[in-house]
Amino acid sequence: MASANVYPPSSEFASRAYVQGMDEYRALYRTAAERPEEFWGELAEKELFWFEKWSHVFEWHPPFAKWFVGGKTNVSYNCLDRHLATHRKNKVAILWEGEPGDQRQISYQELHRLVCRFANVLKGRGLKAGDRAVIYMGMVPELPVALLACARLGVTHSVVFGGFSAEALKARIQDLEAQVVITGDGSWRRGKEVRLKDAVDEALIECPSVKDVIVLQRTGSAIAMKEGRDHWWHDLDQGASEVCPAEELDSEHPLYVLYTSGTTGKPKGIVHTTAGYLLQVTATMKWVFDLRDEDTYWCTADIGWVTGHSYIVYGPLSAGATTMMYEGAPDFPQPDRFWRLIEKYRVNIFYTSPTAIRSFIRQGDQWPNAHDLSSLRLLGSVGEPINPAAWEWYYKVIGKERCPIVDTWWQTETGAIMISAMPGAVPLKPGSGSLPQPGILCDVVDLMGKPVGDNAEGFLVIKRPWPSIARTLWRDPDRYRQQYWERIEGVYMTGDAARRDEDGYYWILGRVDDVMNVSGHRLSTMEIESALVRHPAVAEAAVVGKPHEITGQAVACFVTLKKGNWNHHELGEELRKWVAHEIGSFAKPEQIRFTDSLPKTRSGKIMRRLLREIVTSNTVAGDVTTLEDLSVVTRLSAQHDED
Ligand code: PRX
Repeated sequence: MASANVYPPSSEFASRAYVQGMDEYRALYRTAAERPEEFWGELAEKELFWFEKWSHVFEWHPPFAKWFVGGKTNVSYNCLDRHLATHRKNKVAILWEGEPGDQRQISYQELHRLVCRFANVLKGRGLKAGDRAVIYMGMVPELPVALLACARLGVTHSVVFGGFSAEALKARIQDLEAQVVITGDGSWRRGKEVRLKDAVDEALIECPSVKDVIVLQRTGSAIAMKEGRDHWWHDLDQGASEVCPAEELDSEHPLYVLYTSGTTGKPKGIVHTTAGYLLQVTATMKWVFDLRDEDTYWCTADIGWVTGHSYIVYGPLSAGATTMMYEGAPDFPQPDRFWRLIEKYRVNIFYTSPTAIRSFIRQGDQWPNAHDLSSLRLLGSVGEPINPAAWEWYYKVIGKERCPIVDTWWQTETGAIMISAMPGAVPLKPGSGSLPQPGILCDVVDLMGKPVGDNAEGFLVIKRPWPSIARTLWRDPDRYRQQYWERIEGVYMTGDAARRDEDGYYWILGRVDDVMNVSGHRLSTMEIESALVRHPAVAEAAVVGKPHEITGQAVACFVTLKKGNWNHHELGEELRKWVAHEIGSFAKPEQIRFTDSLPKTRSGKIMRRLLREIVTSNTVAGDVTTLEDLSVVTRLSAQHDED
């Protein structure tokens, strides 16, 4: 894992950076650790607009945290209105390109207008602070418009990634009891239409809370519109007022709920609130992305995931950036689409995932080499560990050995980046997230909470709450406590294993729970197992992550069948499609392996460790058609697992 190379910041980069050199980084870190109230209080006054100042900086009733208690602010106001009195009024806020090649450049002033109009549309449907909106859209500018309009009114939003199926969408709408769904007819992906409205129609059959559906016309294809429930965005928007003052909301008002996979079959609704979240995403735009006003900044994530919330919409707009959005696939119509976009828009900061980087490596250097990438000055990586070979390729072929790479470790629950180099300060080690951000007190410990010391593997924990920490799980505070705060007494348990080296650098080793990371997307083994056992042919299922050259991990399933005469080949295919239907195509298993029995401990727990070994080393060969007898391995390993 470790790489011998260390890359200190160039003096050119460091001399213009927001944080210059290790001494500055250490001073920031020390102040935040030793005098957190002063550190965060001063930062909140400097970085955010407040209708009313808070009475105290934080309150900590373990495990529940509150930040900027008693303060009143508004995220939409911070992302829009406050820039209108500055030179940013006519600056491009959102630079967008659709997959077919259509383009839009929306200034801060124009974005403010669009958001106010749409907020008035939502008001017109009776929505108010505390209500919930589910947003299921493609990557078009109206998606951030919808988020910011909700934030303006205090309507808590929940974006469901457009790749999720109707089933997954339904579960989220039901859990939230959303009053409105904001969607589109479809969106473009690899030249094909993703039919969003069809999925909404299917989901809503069992969602009585939803009174209105607002539909953006994007692809223009034929869709069903249900009288009284469904409305075209452009119809409601006609004549909507452009005046909509931002609500003065409490610092702890819930801004959004984002569902993510946990260790059970039921996704967790991560709740993020207003002021602390916004402060930390704004601050990390400067500390980590070293954002300058003249930069064109591009994060390639989808807004359906937390990366898009924090680092396409809220962080960049609050910091006054030009944030770029692209609708479609990286390889459409050719594998050089990203490099074409960087060249065309002169992108300066580029933030993507290791899976994307590994697939670019496979496509060959000729694609990036055919483009002028000289505008780039900083690169970023997120979502999964980046292997040193991919890091070196990114550094040389994309960054031309000029651009630092920030490998940013964080989670849906953390809201903002927790571990990452500050690029003008911290020497880089390929494969390591490097050092924690100010206010983030990490450690690597054993199950008793005892630090394991340098270079030993252990559980990555965070010892003190930070402003953008998830406050709770939607309507499930007990699960929040159990999941994150009780496994190791008194600290936030990340669920990741890590090692810290003698320089204090963190090396993330992957998940320690039953969560997989496929293409940087979190998937729970239990969620896929529950989907499989809902199929009439399946008796039992066990799912594990299998190492994969491009996507980091792939989904491998072991399945036992009910009595019957099954054609394994056909059923394997059917089950793969079934999982895509139940969850979404990104969760489609790579392998379905049929077996007579699943290896279990004497107390009946599935031995996933053993199954992981099997898929990793392929000691039991097989593909979708193989009928395996795992009883032998079970007998051999049961004793060991039980201990
Ligand atoms: O295992 C870690 C991995 O992704 C998990 C969080 O997933 P999610 O909540 O979907 O958020 C992804 C985007 C922030 C973590 O527990 N992970 C994320 N970033 C990194 C990473 N693993 C290694 N290096 C990273 N930079």
